[in-house]
Amino acid sequence: MSNKLANFDGLVLGVYKDGSLSESASKEVSNNVQQTIKQQLQCAGVKGKLGEVRVLYGIGREEGLPSKIAVVNLGPKSESLKESLNKARVAAAAGVRSLRDQGAKNIAIDVMTNEHGASEGATLGLFKPDNLKSIQNKKESVKISPFGSSSSAQGFTWETGLIYADAQNFARILGNSPANHMTPTIFTENVKSFLKDLPKVEVIVRDEKWAEEKKMGSFLSVGRGSEEPSKFLEIHYKGGKEGDKPLALVGKGVTFDSGGISLKSSANMSEMKIDMGGGAAVSAALYGIAKLELPINVVVAVPLCENLPSGHATKPGDVIIAMNGKSIEVDNTDAEGRLILADALYYTSSTFKPHSLIDIATLTGAMVVALGADRYSGVFSNSDKLWEELLEAGKITNDNFWRMPLDDFYLKAMTKSDVADYINASGSRYGGACTAAIFLKEFVYGLGDEGTVGKDITSIDKEKKDDVVEGNIIDKDADEINKIRYAHIDMAGVMITSEDSCYDVKGATGRPTRSIIEVARRLAAPK
Ligand code: BES
Ligand code: MN
Ligand code: ZN
Repeated sequence: MSNKLANFDGLVLGVYKDGSLSESASKEVSNNVQQTIKQQLQCAGVKGKLGEVRVLYGIGREEGLPSKIAVVNLGPKSESLKESLNKARVAAAAGVRSLRDQGAKNIAIDVMTNEHGASEGATLGLFKPDNLKSIQNKKESVKISPFGSSSSAQGFTWETGLIYADAQNFARILGNSPANHMTPTIFTENVKSFLKDLPKVEVIVRDEKWAEEKKMGSFLSVGRGSEEPSKFLEIHYKGGKEGDKPLALVGKGVTFDSGGISLKSSANMSEMKIDMGGGAAVSAALYGIAKLELPINVVVAVPLCENLPSGHATKPGDVIIAMNGKSIEVDNTDAEGRLILADALYYTSSTFKPHSLIDIATLTGAMVVALGADRYSGVFSNSDKLWEELLEAGKITNDNFWRMPLDDFYLKAMTKSDVADYINASGSRYGGACTAAIFLKEFVYGLGDEGTVGKDITSIDKEKKDDVVEGNIIDKDADEINKIRYAHIDMAGVMITSEDSCYDVKGATGRPTRSIIEVARRLAAPK
């Protein structure tokens, strides 16, 4: 074993609450050293809480262990996949962070309860948002390698953990970048170069002229106030059979949201550089999906623009025509996400006829009010099955979802314009995430009743009280009528995190990238 560890200057080892070494590490380390570690932790007064870490020095040098060993607690033993993943994630992050603080550059990590969790947690935990600091370039990044082996549960390996985490870190980089370093154009260039070497991936960058030809009046209205040209990013991954219906992922790509003429207040406005978090998550998820070589077809669409005030900007009261022919009164230029998504959703659903369509957006402040910051993304879906797939995936990745109502009831407020088919803001603070969601659904093509696209919207039955199913109001379940499965994810509450903790790093979170990769992995798994 001494040879194996010769080049490392740090080692992360997992221990259970009772002080016994993880199954994976106990095979690699002598009984003698295991006893010493147990004694040291006892003397240090370790309580046995998950992620509790102590760095020990010079233990087991005679058998070739590195001079610095971070011993991290896994808490009590547990069996479920979800728990074993998360224990490894939290412990690996805590371990590598403390060794990095001690100057370690080349760290071996006990795979502990799950090797995917270990590599994922370490890679997420080591992320630093400091690439624009002049000192950063002089620092070497930390290298990690697996130590020991665990039986890889359900296809989760050290390598898959790296892929999930690299994907999320890419979304974090896009989100953390200041808006002057992450314009619509730069966003597309970054995605292009990140996806460059992946087979079966095609990246297409559309310009404003193309959007005009497609009659995307709603998308184009938002970028009018900016000098930066809007872009429409389209990515195809063809891992499945030709002709297999794709999974479609649409992400909001507002690279800066000032509110436009309906200008936001200046407090925390800088956070609105992350208003492309949804676009970052879907692009990053596509990286993961392609890297895993999943046997499915996927299409990604990201409408990209800046929302700024100027003499050219769209004004409150302006009426625009969306790609599906519907007119929208722009009552509030700060409700811009739904405007760019309206065209992106209609284009994607009507052009590629996906079996499932998921959009991800930092859409409403009301979502943050509803579910709080840092915890859940809200999901609005017409499909119980798609919802369940998201729920399960979120539990596995510990990047969780909570279901919200996608209910035509809320459409009333969005169709009350005197001059247009729709109005982009309800004018009320109440249910702001729900009114936004139902507005988006109107632009999805392929719903059982075609939504209301192409219909006389004044005749919509707004009293659907009979359709209340266990608290979730579904006008018609997509699974029953075999039509497009749609889910809107409002990630406003999880776009940013205010402090480092576990494997979270202060700043743009890159969420819910891993959950979307996991949804795709499960879709691709043989049934
Ligand atoms: N990007 C914001 C939503 C947001 C707010 C995300 C805070 C994350 C944190 C969105 O474009 C917006 O401004 N929404 C308005 C809509 C309103 C004008 C109907 C909002 O939520 O206030
Ligand atoms: Mn806005
Ligand atoms: Zn916005």
